[in-house]
Amino acid sequence: MDVVQPIMWSPVGDGVRILDQRELPTRELYRDLRTVDDVYQAIRTLSVRGAPAIGIAGAMGLTLALSDDALDRTQAMSAIAGAAARLKSSRPTAVNLAWAVDRVYRLALRNSGDTRALRECLRDEATRILEEDRAMCRRIGEHGATLIPDGARILTHCNAGALATGGMGTALAAIYVAREQGRTLEVYADETRPLLQGSRLTAWELSRAGIPVTVLVDGAAASLMRDGEIDLCIVGADRIAVNGDAANKIGTYPLAIAAKHHGIPFYVAAPASTFDPSTSTGDEILIEQRDASEVRCGFGAPTAPDGVGVYNPAFDVTPSTLISAIISDRGVHRPPYHFE
Ligand code: MRU
Repeated sequence: MDVVQPIMWSPVGDGVRILDQRELPTRELYRDLRTVDDVYQAIRTLSVRGAPAIGIAGAMGLTLALSDDALDRTQAMSAIAGAAARLKSSRPTAVNLAWAVDRVYRLALRNSGDTRALRECLRDEATRILEEDRAMCRRIGEHGATLIPDGARILTHCNAGALATGGMGTALAAIYVAREQGRTLEVYADETRPLLQGSRLTAWELSRAGIPVTVLVDGAAASLMRDGEIDLCIVGADRIAVNGDAANKIGTYPLAIAAKHHGIPFYVAAPASTFDPSTSTGDEILIEQRDASEVRCGFGAPTAPDGVGVYNPAFDVTPSTLISAIISDRGVHRPPYHFE
């Protein structure tokens, strides 16, 4: 399956090249990020987004702290420490970001080379993170495809596809692999308020791959289930606690409740880098609150009166009791969950 690649090294000088997801579905615009701050801003503003992809961007972005060969060891280490802290602060919920940045930072602490050697070593590690993610996506797809019967009508939320990862996605990887294996299927993509990752991104990447997709407003999902039009739901995750509680894009939790009510399997797909052994339950997951302007005036037109109060959490937590199975690169996990 030929999928879009949203993040790579810039082929021109030091930099990280991203497909700017704020521009989709209107324009396919690639941008080169040249500084740590460029990467921080790209993550904050969702030009690059999705838990695995922001981890990869953070790891690659860290190397940009060392663009100046003249830095001595102390200056280089201080630049990396500052960059790591700044990048990790860009978004708090997806554990993949801290996981990937810390992995590269730990390697820096162990490397005793000069700035140029250190940069090369960190660049290799960030490349490994990207390549490992690609392989993990493929394995998630293979495990997930075993849960997708021929003719399945699948509901998904947000974008857990190639645009959100270094490979073919997580939730959408299962769909891509099922399709590769010759099954016919149909996808329903929740629009995903307020930033429309479902309609702008999931519908874009599935259409591009030739997979039939229908967009619906988030509030229509339960009715579609009641009408008997959905066979299974599959979504991604930004952090999975030890007990299997899963944080994902706001609107996932009500979807899981509706699926339970209608007896529809509800699956969560994520790589091992999304499991957080230091979080016992979903209650401990920090939920990012985003700016009121996303709700009051999302894409240019005012959608609420000026100054009105806004509640705009970016994620919610689905309790593990509502999750039929969690699909990872390690296999299909069934309850009771215990991830370490
Ligand atoms: O705010 P976003 O667009 O970064 O939110 C992304 C999601 O919630 C995805 O479902 C999740 O990161 C999994 S991506 C494989």
